Formats: sequence, C-alpha cells, structure tokens
Amino acid sequence: MPAADTIRLLREARRGGYAVPAFDVSNYETFRAAAEGAEAERSPIILMVLQLDAPEGGLEYLAALIKEAAARASVPIACHLDHALDPQWALRAVDLGFSSVMIDGSALPFEENVAVTRQVVDYAHARGVGVEAELGHVGFGGYTVEESPGTAVLTVPEEVVEFVARTQVDALAVAIGTCHGLYQEPPNLDLERLSAIEAVSPVPLVLHGGSGNPDDAIREAIRRGITKVNIYTELLDAFFGTLRSVLGRPESQGAWAYRLLPEAIAAGRELVRRKIHLCGSNGKA
Ligand code: CO
Ligand code: CO
Repeated sequence: MPAADTIRLLREARRGGYAVPAFDVSNYETFRAAAEGAEAERSPIILMVLQLDAPEGGLEYLAALIKEAAARASVPIACHLDHALDPQWALRAVDLGFSSVMIDGSALPFEENVAVTRQVVDYAHARGVGVEAELGHVGFGGYTVEESPGTAVLTVPEEVVEFVARTQVDALAVAIGTCHGLYQEPPNLDLERLSAIEAVSPVPLVLHGGSGNPDDAIREAIRRGITKVNIYTELLDAFFGTLRSVLGRPESQGAWAYRLLPEAIAAGRELVRRKIHLCGSNGKA
C-alpha cells in the first residue's frame, strides 16, 4: 500500500487509547527491522528521518526506502520527517511525498514558533501532507529541566489552544520532562501537566525522548493522551550494539554482509516488537 496518513493513524490511536510507535531510521537494516517488527505484530508504524542523518541528498534516498517499505507492507507504514529546524527542509520533504513533517520551532519565542509552523502548514496542507509542531521545548543529552533551564521548557497548557488555532497544526509534540538521547537518571514525567494539555488540545499529542523511560511511565503517558512515541536511541543501541559485538568476533573478519547483518537486524526487530507492545498498537493494523 502507499505510505499511510500519519495524522489518520494518530486520530485512530487517540480514539482507541493506544499510541503508534515512531522510529528514526537511517539505513536499510533499521528500515527492515522496523517494517518486519510491525508486520509481525500487525501494527501500524511511523518511520522517521532526521535531517542530521540525511546529509547531501540522503533525504531522497531515505524517502525512497520508506516508500518502498510501505508499498511492500501489509500494515500501514507512515513516512515522517522528524525535527525540521529549517522550514525549507520541511517543504522539501513535502515535495518528496512524505506523509507528514515536523517543523520544530520550539527553541523560538512563541510568536516566531507560530509563524514558522503556519508557513509549513500552509504549504503542506495544500498538498495533503500533515504537520507536527512542538510547543515548549524537549531538551537534549541527559539533562533535567532543572539542570538546563535555558534549553528545556515544559509545555504550558494555556498556550496550546491558541497555538493550534493559529497554526492549524495536526499534531503537537509536548515537553513534559522527557529528553532526547541518553538519560543520566530516569526522567520524572509531569503527568498532571500532560492531562491538563490533553484536556484542552484539539489535536493528538506526541512524546519525544521516548527511549530510556521506565515502561510504566510510557504506559501512563499513553493512558493520559500520548498517541505517538518517538524512539531513536534504543533502536540505535539494539542494532549497532549487536553489530559491534558481531564485528568483534574473529570469524567476522572478511565475512560477507549477509553473514554480518542478520543478527543485528533481528535485535532491532525485537526492540521494535517490544515497543509496539508497550504502545498497545499490536493487532491494530
Ligand atoms: Co506480539
Ligand atoms: Co525529538
């Protein structure tokens, strides 16, 4: 089937009380791991591309891979651009046929975030493409909100209605205490804040920094309205960690790719299946 409509998947998840897992993928093997995990669990899934992982024409290659994965799959696979900081990058992904794009103006003042988000929404909606934005700011690199007050800012529920109304965005990433990358200590999620946001938000909510949280915290966040859980670091660990140990074996010296890669793909696939179960999206395809 063609690449699935991300926003439709999220609306169905919101009605059904589960979340759709979304994985940043960067090579053929991680695409394969994610697509096979989704097939095995009969789950919808979102495959995402990050700008930093797609330099020098990489976006075109990766878009083609996602579309091929979606075309082959018997479950819905959506094709999403993760974290465009530059609106031009988001517009390029729209032109390439992504199902949805994220414009991340979260480090900007409110009015500038509204303006850049609206610019991308106008272009994307005219072409049938959904848009995710971020309000508040999810931090990076293992710092808590208290340790890095200048970089991480929790979402203010009172701002959500105005932001969505003025931008017409389709999905909203919220900052409730998660971080991108590895944690030094497990994060403390502000679940009351999440419930207050969900109570007023016209659109489905997205959790960034989904790696490295206790399973119970993710389950509770989904129960309180999260419909998309972004995962990158844990898939990197599963795939590249396994590949590193395979390459460390003496018999891997000079071995061909078909002997080196299956174990790492399988580790990625198992991680994807575990996250699908955590999100409750198994059997929802
Ligand atoms: Co299963
Ligand atoms: Co993110």
